[in-house]
Amino acid sequence: MALVPPKRRRGPGRGEEAGAGARGAAAPSPAALRFPEVTIYLAERHMGRTRRAFLTRLARAKGFRVDQSYSPEVTHVVMEGGSAAEASGWLDRVLGATGSLPRPLLLNISWFTESMGQGKPVPVEGRHRLGVPLPTRSQGDPSSLPAYACQRHTPLNHHNLCFTEALETLAEAAGFEDSQGRLLSFRRAASVLKALPGPITSQSQLHRLPHFGDHTSRIVQEVLEHGVSSEVEKVKQSERYQTMKPLILACQGIRNLAPDPGIQQLFTQIFGVGVKTADKWYREGLRTLDDLRGQTRKLSRQQEAGIRYFEDLCTPVWRHEADAIQKTVEAAVRQVLPDATMTLTGGFRRGKLRGHDVDFLITHPVEGQETGLLPKVMGHLESQGLVLYQHTQSNHYQDLKDLDHKASQNTTMDAYERCFSILCLPKPPASFHPETGEGPKEPSRDGKAVRVDLVVAPISQFAFALLGWTGSQHFERELRRFSRTEKRLLLNSHGLYNPEKRESLPAASEEEIFKHLGLEYIPPEQRNA
Ligand code: UTP
Ligand code: MN
Repeated sequence: MALVPPKRRRGPGRGEEAGAGARGAAAPSPAALRFPEVTIYLAERHMGRTRRAFLTRLARAKGFRVDQSYSPEVTHVVMEGGSAAEASGWLDRVLGATGSLPRPLLLNISWFTESMGQGKPVPVEGRHRLGVPLPTRSQGDPSSLPAYACQRHTPLNHHNLCFTEALETLAEAAGFEDSQGRLLSFRRAASVLKALPGPITSQSQLHRLPHFGDHTSRIVQEVLEHGVSSEVEKVKQSERYQTMKPLILACQGIRNLAPDPGIQQLFTQIFGVGVKTADKWYREGLRTLDDLRGQTRKLSRQQEAGIRYFEDLCTPVWRHEADAIQKTVEAAVRQVLPDATMTLTGGFRRGKLRGHDVDFLITHPVEGQETGLLPKVMGHLESQGLVLYQHTQSNHYQDLKDLDHKASQNTTMDAYERCFSILCLPKPPASFHPETGEGPKEPSRDGKAVRVDLVVAPISQFAFALLGWTGSQHFERELRRFSRTEKRLLLNSHGLYNPEKRESLPAASEEEIFKHLGLEYIPPEQRNA
């Protein structure tokens, strides 16, 4: 450890400290240095000399180590009244050429006063932080931010939206060019920023982060300096991007759309319409939803439904709506199979308040009882007039051998009994908007059309199905990549398979699956990678 000056002594004897007089009778004895893992540095800026000397005395009297000059041994830098950007800039200057040294925690005075109040260093929380102190010494290895999203906690709301939006735009554009490599590298970099405990305020914070190379760092740097990235702006302006990017027209103004080259994007928004179909329609001269509505011969049943309920399907589904749908569907499930259970999965399980659809997973405690459940459930819902569209498929796994085969193919498509549907969410009697508190803007049909996915798993595969259907998509992709690359195990929504030993590893809970993989358990709310 050449980085640490060898002569530094812990304890009051190490004293180049000019303010020695400050110690006086209260000078702690060597034994009184009570927190060897913490070395505080108080930045004089904004604090002033006198107050700094006072706080230094106070902390030392309580057994804290407070250094007068900055060194790599400092673990906690405390600033008074400075902004994150200022603190980080200050640190960059202090570290200078040694910018690769471990970065200390950058804290505001609240951490200091609370620690003094409790007579011990309090655990550092978000509100104590000035900047993003990653990586920190307290986390041990400075390169410890793990490389796989499934090894990190990623909350729903993070601190780096302006950067992740830029990087994800580039990922999306790479996808339009069918450039999977570029897509993944931008997406991985964005995902890393989502896991940071605070905002990026300085370029130097990127050095130790996984998946940040020259290109991704340059984008962040641009956004830091100018608020936008010229590369991202250029991509957004490009004809290619504008043609491919699905219109976020949502429901307003669809009928009034002028014929416009971007209109095929409208078609790709429709449930059941891929880019290819949209492109074909566009070349056939179709431009608006009304054009399509007059052409029913050309449409599949699914596409027809997508167009009929287009406006509703473009409107987000809210959490309380998902709950209402759960109640209705659960009642139907119970009628068919009293002991069956139904679990909300997808984005809502990760804590999202809105989504594009609602995903449910159904199982039964007795293996096999669940088979063939969905047609009956849908029948019940249909008899209540709640089904606007449905496509049910029975399971197509035969036995464990087939499952292992599926696992070995590492496919993301699963073989469960499943129903893609559009259900009608009945209006509550006195309907009002939960955010505005207003009543409905217009008396719409009988209810709101909502995309609902129902998946049925036998109890022996339930944990794998739950893990696979909770997402996020990037989290799932990373879990599978981690399993394959780091553990030589194949994971999918049916099971975990060891191809060398040719055996499956059973699990009754998500926790067990993480354990099999040697991963810390990440709860659903932290899988928003
Ligand atoms: P969704 O596409 O519903 O995404 O898939 P989401 O996270 O719930 O977000 P929104 O709000 O609806 O847009 C949920 C999870 O289900 C898995 C995916 O891995 C995804 O993470 N999934 C989805 C499958 O395994 N198979 C599928 O056919 C579809
Ligand atoms: Mn979903």
